[in-house]
Amino acid sequence: MLEVRGLAFSYGDFSIEGVTLEVKEGEVVTLLGPNGSGKTTILKAIYGLLKPKERCVFIDGRDFHELPIRERAKLAGYVPQSHTPPFPYTVLDVVVTGLASQLGPFESPGKEHYEKALEKLGLLGLERFKDKPYTQLSGGQMQLVLIARALVQEPRFLLLDEPTAHLDFKNQVKVLGMVRRLAREGISTIMTLHDPNLTSVYSDRVALVKGGRIAAIGEPKEVIREDVLEEVYGMPVSVLEFNGFRLVIPGGELNGAD
Ligand SMILES: Nc1ncnc2c1ncn2[C@@H]1O[C@H](COP(=O)(O)OP(=O)(O)OP(=O)(O)O)[C@@H](O)[C@H]1O
Ligand SMILES: [Mg+2]
Repeated sequence: MLEVRGLAFSYGDFSIEGVTLEVKEGEVVTLLGPNGSGKTTILKAIYGLLKPKERCVFIDGRDFHELPIRERAKLAGYVPQSHTPPFPYTVLDVVVTGLASQLGPFESPGKEHYEKALEKLGLLGLERFKDKPYTQLSGGQMQLVLIARALVQEPRFLLLDEPTAHLDFKNQVKVLGMVRRLAREGISTIMTLHDPNLTSVYSDRVALVKGGRIAAIGEPKEVIREDVLEEVYGMPVSVLEFNGFRLVIPGGELNGAD
């Protein structure tokens, strides 16, 4: 189990306060909330790219940020919202960099590492791009490569920041379906999404983030509600029930008026 206990972080004029979250084995938890509400900051602070004010992230009771890097890499994989590689590595090499922490200081990746990387590329339908420079891919293809790079570590917890942002509808469904499949194997995901409908379909629990705090947390049917979404987004919405899922459509005038 991954526990976040009262996470606090400040950029100066923006703060995250009191973020408390438990993620069980095989659970998918989605952070949903407006632009600038603090979702990326929360994910980065959980992963340790930003330093929270106090120790607050525990995996199986152990302080995650205090573990050696090799152990941390086996526990958690992080896919950033955006990423620009410094060199035109090939796609396969980018995926192999996900294994860097498992190699010795002067060890080069071997056949088994490349095979693992190819297998993950295959999972995301990217095998044909393996020798192409990563910098020559489309935004969505780059995003899929970064997901493959996180998967190659075979971590127990995946932190995915807007994994569907640049993807076409089919690839969104593919990636989120993969998240659910991994969940069945016991791998947990904390991700951010912007689409309340995909959130409702693919999440076990949803944390609504507003102003650096969790405004509401629960199963989709508990928090994907008109009153909660209207409060978090400050706009009217209508929520319909379909096949047990919540479907959210904009309320009020559809011509852009408030
Ligand atoms: N490096 C930084 N230095 C200072 N302030 C920052 C920095 N990065 C983000 N912020 C501020 O922190 C706040 C939260 O940003 P964050 O990226 O966590 O939002 P978000 O919920 O992920 O938004 P989005 O949905 O647009 O990705 C914003 O007000 C942003 O301007
Ligand atoms: Mg973000």
